[in-house]
Amino acid sequence: MLVTQQPILRRFWYPVVPIAQLSTEHPYPFQLLGQKIVLWLDSLKQPVAVADKCCHRSAQLSKGAIANGCIRCPYHGWAYNKEGKCVDVPQFKSQPIPVSYQVAAFQCVERYDYAWVCLGDPLHPIPAIPEADDSSFRMIHEFYETWQVSGLRVIENSFDSAHGHFVHASSWGDQGNPVPPPIDEITETETGFVMKHWLEVLNPELQKKNLGIATEKTIRTNERRWFMPFARTLKIQYPNGLNHLIFTAYTPIDDRTSQLVQFCIRNDTEADAQAADIIAFDRQVTQEDRDILETTEYDAPLCLAEEQHMASDKPGIIIRHRLAALLREYGEVEQRRSQSTSTAVQS
Ligand code: FES
Ligand code: CO
Repeated sequence: MLVTQQPILRRFWYPVVPIAQLSTEHPYPFQLLGQKIVLWLDSLKQPVAVADKCCHRSAQLSKGAIANGCIRCPYHGWAYNKEGKCVDVPQFKSQPIPVSYQVAAFQCVERYDYAWVCLGDPLHPIPAIPEADDSSFRMIHEFYETWQVSGLRVIENSFDSAHGHFVHASSWGDQGNPVPPPIDEITETETGFVMKHWLEVLNPELQKKNLGIATEKTIRTNERRWFMPFARTLKIQYPNGLNHLIFTAYTPIDDRTSQLVQFCIRNDTEADAQAADIIAFDRQVTQEDRDILETTEYDAPLCLAEEQHMASDKPGIIIRHRLAALLREYGEVEQRRSQSTSTAVQS
C-alpha cells in the first residue's frame, strides 16, 4: 500500500512535531503523507499548519518568516494568516486582496506536547491516553526521528510477538525460547483493537536487564492498543504495581518514510527509575527494531497472498484486513508500485 496514494489516510490525526520545537517567529516545515506543510505558533501560542507552497509563484513559505501570527513568503512578501488566507500583498496600494489568494490550511492542535495535524475531515479523535491526564503518572519524552520504513511495516512490528527473541536478543530477547506466548485476547474496536497477553520472563540474566526488577521471575501483563492507521500504546503492568505505558506513532511522511514519535508514561518517580536510564533502555530496543525494519520492502501488501504467515502474525493480519476494509468503505483501491517498477528495482 502506498500511503500517499490513499486519500482516506488524510482523514486521521498524526503527531508531527514536538510543540517545544515550534515558535511564533520561525516556521517549521514537515511532510505528511507527501503533503508539504508548514507549522508555527499563532499569536495565542497555538499551533497552526498550512500548505507549504505560496499560491503566487509556488515558493516554499517555510523559508519565510512569521510576524504577528502570519507567515510571509520569502519571494515577494505575500503574508498568510493561520486560515491560509492572504492578508497582505506588499505590492498592492489600496486594492482589495482577491479571495482566491489563499493556501490550504489544516486542522492542527496540541496534545501530549505534540502538534497534531489532520489533512482532512477527521474520522476519529486523537488517541485517548487516560494516564497522560493522571497526576500519578509522569511523562518521559523519548524519540522523535525519521525512519526509512513504511507505516504498515512498522505498525505491524509493534504487535509482532515473535520478533523479540531474535531482534531484541541483546536487550531482552531469549533465543532459547523462540515460541511467542499465545495471543490471549484481541478485541476489535472502532479505532483499531486491544490485544492482551501475559509474558513470563524466567531467565535471571534477563531480569537484570528488565529495568532493574530483580525477582526470580516476572509476569508482565501487556495490553497493546492499535489506533488506526499507524499508532499504538503498549501498557506493561508489573506485579509490583508499576505501570509502564509507551505511546508510539509512526507518522507517515511518504510511502517509504515515517516519523517516529515515542513517549512513555509511568506511575513512579525519578527516585525509582531515572528517566535517562529508561530512555537508554528503550533506545537500544528501538534501534534494534529500526535496524531490521529499514531492510523491509516498503510497499507492504494488504493482500495476504503475497507473503507467508504464522500464528503470531494474527494482529498484523487484522491490521491488513481493517485497512483493506477502510479502503473499500471509502471507494478506494489499494495502490501499489507497478509491476514493471518493482521488477526494475529488483533486477
Ligand atoms: Fe510567494 Fe511570490 S511566490 S509571494
Ligand atoms: Co521490537
